[in-house]
Amino acid sequence: MELRDKTFVVTGANTGLGRATVEALADRGAGRLVVASRSRDKTQPVLDALRARAPSTDVRFVALDLGELASVRRAADEILAMDLPIDVLVNNAGIAGLQGLTKDGFELTFGTNHLGPWLLTEKLLPLVQRAPQGRIVNVSSEGHYRAKGIDWDALRKPTAHTTALPEYFVSKLCNVLHAKELARRLAGTKVTTYSVHPGGVASDIWQRRMGKFALLLRPFLLTNEQGARTQLRCATDPALATESGLFYDKERAKEPNPLSHDVALQDELRRRSAEWTK
Ligand SMILES: NC(=O)c1ccc[n+]([C@@H]2O[C@H](COP(=O)([O-])OP(=O)(O)OC[C@H]3O[C@@H](n4cnc5c(N)ncnc54)[C@H](OP(=O)(O)O)[C@@H]3O)[C@@H](O)[C@H]2O)c1
Repeated sequence: MELRDKTFVVTGANTGLGRATVEALADRGAGRLVVASRSRDKTQPVLDALRARAPSTDVRFVALDLGELASVRRAADEILAMDLPIDVLVNNAGIAGLQGLTKDGFELTFGTNHLGPWLLTEKLLPLVQRAPQGRIVNVSSEGHYRAKGIDWDALRKPTAHTTALPEYFVSKLCNVLHAKELARRLAGTKVTTYSVHPGGVASDIWQRRMGKFALLLRPFLLTNEQGARTQLRCATDPALATESGLFYDKERAKEPNPLSHDVALQDELRRRSAEWTK
């Protein structure tokens, strides 16, 4: 895909897989990169590095806290005001292993990994639909296979498990359900959707959970650049322009958790997400 005229919006691009994604897009001559991250201070070195390595790429920062719906709305409004078609939205940002409640009263991992990105996607959809072939890429995880279902009541309470891993698995199942529900809703339009497992990657996510013990895992993990390949393929490969709603691992489509095919569950997630973000 020729990227010169394309606009990419990538969340959580100040570090880890998100940073590797925007750097690869800049190296390939992307026209415009909108880096949507929590902190400008933490993102500034990335913005500087992107501008240095790709002077012709238009690099923009938008402040976005996915754990606060008002911040998601503000960020979306800022991007909508740019009034540009969005070729690709990469819902990359995410947390694992943290306990709590979002500002709006949702379980922290669900709120950050699904509900915030769901609202952002809904708000930005009109701009994605204006692109010649818009794409939405949800960065999920192979952890989604371990989700056994969705306990809707638990999503309105603080994280119940000390590891927060069951909550993570559910949030990542939601990423797959969301991509599938959108694919159905947008069938017959030019917009396609994807969900992705990047692999086990030596990003900050492990360090945030395990501190210095994360170093022990490093030899077994992919680099951020290797891990970003699957989301980059879904974002840019012309061969995938006719595929929508599928789950990808190691750059190939793969059968996801059977629960993700449940249309009633997809629709229930959409209905509740819409109600909870009203
Ligand atoms: N690494 C792996 O092995 C692995 C495996 C499977 C799936 N994944 C998925 O890959 C994605 C990227 O993770 P990563 O491995 O690159 O982790 P990471 O290095 O920890 O990066 C996570 C990114 O998400 C951002 N983020 C966290 N909470 C946010 C919030 N409330 N609002 C906005 N941004 C927020 C972080 O921003 P701050 O720096 O401001 O916190 C950071 O930019 C996640 O969705 C994760 O679930 C990763």
